[in-house]
Amino acid sequence: MTISDSTVAIIGAGNIGSRLAADFAAGGQDFLLAGRDAEAARKIASDLDGHAEVVSVNEAVERAGVLVVAVWLDDFRQFIAQYGQQLAGKVIVDPSNPVGPDGEGGYRRVIGEQESSGQILAGLLPAGARLVKAFGTLSAPTLSAAARQEPERAVQFYAADDDAAGDLVAGLIRAGGFEPVRVGGLDQSIRIEMFGDLHEYGALGRTVTRTEALKAI
Ligand SMILES: NC(=O)c1ccc[n+]([C@@H]2O[C@H](COP(=O)([O-])OP(=O)(O)OC[C@H]3O[C@@H](n4cnc5c(N)ncnc54)[C@H](OP(=O)(O)O)[C@@H]3O)[C@@H](O)[C@H]2O)c1
Repeated sequence: MTISDSTVAIIGAGNIGSRLAADFAAGGQDFLLAGRDAEAARKIASDLDGHAEVVSVNEAVERAGVLVVAVWLDDFRQFIAQYGQQLAGKVIVDPSNPVGPDGEGGYRRVIGEQESSGQILAGLLPAGARLVKAFGTLSAPTLSAAARQEPERAVQFYAADDDAAGDLVAGLIRAGGFEPVRVGGLDQSIRIEMFGDLHEYGALGRTVTRTEALKAI
């Protein structure tokens, strides 16, 4: 099943953006793909059987109703500042983890212990834009390796305040080959961000099936 009544865009064609693009395409989901490097985006799209249409970031923001913004937290802040009111009415999907390099080959938090990037970003959006936290709970390699897992799909947790926006993103998670499980509202975002109790790089430490996920939340 794919989302067909809203145009979907992936913004950011890096590690996560390109893997999500492959997962969506494998599920038959059509989408716009916009990176800063159009040539790199075209290269990614060329392997995706016509499911990805490469456009500029401006065009993606204009045309899409659902924007998966696969960029680092600071770039996400800048993206919201740049597009501001143009994001009103759209569903903004946030896979970001609030981390940066720790200088020793690992990661450290770049926001306060009790803060989540999901809530910070939601607070920066214009009225009428709805943020859904999703697609950041698994590492990039796992996003590829665990897609369309048999016999039971691996779970991707998501958090949303708005039911309709959450349902749309649940559909996208399914299209990408995973089982969606809603952890709650955006106040639960911290649990599905890196170091959170439901993150692959947190207390959970692995992928889970729906039954296991429902026990864990
Ligand atoms: N890597 C993981 O395992 C993982 C797992 C879960 C969640 N995440 C989260 O996913 C997000 C992306 O991570 P990543 O690993 O994919 O990083 P990445 O490989 O560095 O890719 C980020 C991409 O975003 C692009 N970008 C930045 N600002 C942009 C803008 N305004 N418009 C269009 N493209 C823009 C960058 O382009 P340039 O190259 O031109 O800067 C780059 O291609 C981060 O927030 C991260 O926390 C990552």
